[in-house]
This record gives sequence, C-alpha cells and structure tokens, in this order.
Amino acid sequence: MSDRTNDRKIEHIRAIEQDPLTDRQGHWFDRIRLTHRALPECSLETVDPTVELFGKRLSFPLLISSMTGGDHQLIQRINANLAEAAERCQVALAVGSQRVMFSQPGARASFALRERAPTTVLIGNVGAVQLNYGFGVEQCREAIDCLGADALYLHLNPLQEAVQPEGDTDFRGLADKLAELVAVLPKPLLLKEVGCGLAPEDIALGYAAGVRYFDLAGSGGTSWSRIEYHRGDGSDLGLKFQDWGVPTPLALQRAEPWIGRATLIASGGLRDGIDMAKSVILGASLCGLAAPFLAPARESADAVVAAIEQLRREFTTAMFLLGMPDIASMHNNRALIVEER
Ligand SMILES: Cc1cc2nc3c(=O)[nH]c(=O)nc-3n(C[C@H](O)[C@H](O)[C@H](O)COP(=O)(O)O)c2cc1C
Repeated sequence: MSDRTNDRKIEHIRAIEQDPLTDRQGHWFDRIRLTHRALPECSLETVDPTVELFGKRLSFPLLISSMTGGDHQLIQRINANLAEAAERCQVALAVGSQRVMFSQPGARASFALRERAPTTVLIGNVGAVQLNYGFGVEQCREAIDCLGADALYLHLNPLQEAVQPEGDTDFRGLADKLAELVAVLPKPLLLKEVGCGLAPEDIALGYAAGVRYFDLAGSGGTSWSRIEYHRGDGSDLGLKFQDWGVPTPLALQRAEPWIGRATLIASGGLRDGIDMAKSVILGASLCGLAAPFLAPARESADAVVAAIEQLRREFTTAMFLLGMPDIASMHNNRALIVEER
C-alpha cells in the first residue's frame, strides 16, 4: 500500500471525465416495458416511496453508490457535498474504498462524514481481496468507526484487479474470511461487485458465510475495465473486457430465488427514476447510482440535492402511473412487467 492508492482515485475521476464511454450506456432497463395504468386508483400526492434500511427511514430507495475518498482537496469536497446532500434528502450514501486511510492518514478526514450526515444511512467500503493482503477484522472495524457507518460494503472486483498492472489478484479463500468477519463485526456486511454483476453462485457463497445484503452492481454503466485501460501499461486487455459481465436487470432476475432470504441492491447502469422503479419490481430493496453523481458532487451539495430530487420525482411519477401506492406493493411484483425484449 502506498501513495499510489491515493493517486489512483484522482486518475479514475479524470478517466471518467475525459472519456464518456467509461459509462457503457447499455440502457438494459429500456428493454423492460411496464404496465401503464390509466386508472391508477391512487393519488400522486399520497404515493409513499419511503423505505427502511438498517432501522432508518429513507425518503425513497436511493443509494449514492461507493465512489471515493482520499487525501486530496477535490476528493474531500466530493464526499462532503455527497454527505450533506444525502442528509438533506434522507437517502443512503456509501463511500469509496477506505483502504487509502491506512496508508495515508490525511485521507481519514474524507471519510469522517457523520458530522455532515448525522442521521442518514452511511456505508463504509473495503476491497474484499484485501483480506488476502494484510487486511482483517481490525481494519474493517476502523473503517466502520471512522465513518460512523451503519454497515460495511466489501467490494469484489476481480476484473478490475486483473486488468491493472499492480492488481491484487489472489481471490482464494475469501468466502471463509467473510464468515469470520460476519461473526465478529458490530455492523452488517454487504457484498458488492463494481460493474460486472454478482452471480447466483457468488450470492450462495456469501449467504453461506452469513452475508444477507447483496449489491449486484451489474454491467451497462461504469466500466472499470475501460477506466483501468486508460491507466494501463499499453495493453488493450481493459478494452477487450470493457463490456464483460451480466447486465443489472439480468443479474436481478438470476438472483430472484434469494428474495425474501436476502436483501438485494441494484446498481450498475441505473440512470433515472424509471430504472429504479424497474429494479424494485425485479426485487431490489435499494437502488444505487454512482457515476451520475460525480459531476454534481464536484459542484456543490445543492447540485447533488437537485439530482436526487429529480430522481425522486421520476421514481414517484412511475409509482403513480403503475398504480402502486407504496414500495411493498411494487417490490418483486413482476406482474407489472408487460414485455422484456
Ligand atoms: C468514480 C467512481 C469510483 C468508484 N469507486 C468505487 C470504490 O472505491 N469501491 C466500490 O465498491 N465501488 C466503486 N465504484 C463502483 C460503484 O460503486 C458502482 O458499483 C458502479 O460504478 C456501477 O454504478 P454506475 O454505473 O451508476 O456508476 C466507483 C464508481 C465510480 C463512478
């Protein structure tokens, strides 16, 4: 671990800004058509999009997905704006990988967000593969404490590690290590991918280890393979694999047997409130967006609030037009799907 972890975060942000095709624009959710109700028998005013997560009420099922953290002014501003907006709108916020705070103490300030977001759901983040590279219970506890987190994401990113020159690619024995963590950590663990999707087999391994929250993070949105290509050693491996993985709606469908036993989170290529509504219909309890929040977060907390409010308006409009008065009626209600192309 070195300063490289910190520099990498800035390089990722630059790659996303300079190359619009790091967002693969898969539009996979557009293939799903929902039943429009001309007689919805509910009032737009009284549609209730609120949900509960970790004992807290969110204004609608939105998660600002894990992005960043580090010892850099820009990164600190991004996280501060995201935290202030998440609190004002009462949506969940996950931070980016906290690995950097163990090599660069100056990065801790970017994760110490409880003051800015005293009440809403905050989720920490550590790379699961780091459990094979010196990380353990102590670092996970510290990550939770530094953020004042309600829960901790462990991200799984074998493609991203495989296409970068300095990648950590020994993923052996992680399920057993997850079980050890689940048994001792004071907060729930969530497993996530970063844009290739969790397979049913991954969920089964995580579930057997005691994990009950799975963020599918499928393909169709941000491509880490393409981002790493820009930081690479001249090889085109990152480009070859830029669309690798399972699109998020398909990953959700494949995870259907786990609904009820585990909490599913949809992320990867969700770009509006209609994609969020379709995710809930496919069984997601929470919907994560990452890259769409990057530009507003650079600007101000107000800009992030405006982006969240637009998503909420789109989401509640879709609920109204589906005749769904609350989330419970819509969750895993596949009868609302007319057609999938
Ligand atoms: C700038 C940026 C940084 C990210 N950093 C992390 C990270 O540190 N840890 C993580 O688990 N996921 C990270 N992700 C992945 C997202 O949390 C999410 O799983 C993925 O980008 C798909 O969402 P999207 O298509 O809405 O961007 C990052 C995404 C972006 C755009």
